[in-house]
Amino acid sequence: MVGGLFITLEGGDGSGKSTQSELLTEWLEEQGHTVLRTREPGGTEVGVEIREIVLHHRGDIAPRAEALLYAADRAHHIATKVRPALERGEIVIQDRYLDSSVAYQGAGRVLGAGEVRDLSLWAAEGLLPDLTILLDLDEAVARGRLDADNKRFDRLEAEKGEFHARVREAFLELALAEPDRFLVLDAEFPAEAIAASIRTRVAALLAG
Ligand code: TYD
Repeated sequence: MVGGLFITLEGGDGSGKSTQSELLTEWLEEQGHTVLRTREPGGTEVGVEIREIVLHHRGDIAPRAEALLYAADRAHHIATKVRPALERGEIVIQDRYLDSSVAYQGAGRVLGAGEVRDLSLWAAEGLLPDLTILLDLDEAVARGRLDADNKRFDRLEAEKGEFHARVREAFLELALAEPDRFLVLDAEFPAEAIAASIRTRVAALLAG
C-alpha cells in the first residue's frame, strides 16, 4: 500500500509512551532513517485546537461527539501528515492512534468497540500501523506516576481508577485479537530494557 513504516505507541496515561518514542526516534535517526515523530490528538495545527477541546473543555461532551472529535483530528492528521510521510518512505512514530479511541471511547460503555474502530478506519481511510507497541501498566501504578508529575490533569486523567482499568483491559484485548501487529511490554520494566525490546522488534521489521 504505502512505503515507509508506521509504528504506534499505546497504553494508559503515565505508561511511558513519550520516553519510548523519543528513544526509538533517536536510535532510528542515528542509523540514518528519516523519522516523523507525532501524536494524536494534536499532531497538526487544527489538531491542536481539537486537542484543547477534547482534553480541556469544561463540562460534558456527548460520547458520540467526543468520538467524532478524535476521529476528525485523526482524519486530518493522517491525510496531511502521516500518509504523505509514509509515501515518502519515512518512518512514522506516533503516540496514540485508533486503538486509543477503541480503548478510551469504548470504556465509557456507551459506544461499542466495533463502531469506534470503524469510525476511525473511515477517518483514516483504512490505514493500520505496521507495529503497535502496547506499554501495559497497572492503573494504580500509572496514577502514582501521574500524581508525581504534578502537571495539569486532562479530562481523561481525571476519570476514576475503574475507568482506567477498563481502558487497560480493552488494550490487552485488542493486542490479543491482533498478535502480529502488537508488541506488548510491561511498562514497569526499566525504560532502557523496554527500549531494547522495541529496538529488536523494529530491527526485525526493517530487515524483513
Ligand atoms: P496523551 O497525549 O497521551 O496525553 P498526555 O500528553 O497528557 O500524556 O493523550 C491524551 C488523552 O487523550 C489520553 O488520556 C487518551 C485520550 N485519547 C482518547 O480518549 N481517544 C483517542 O482516540 C486518543 C488518540 C486519545
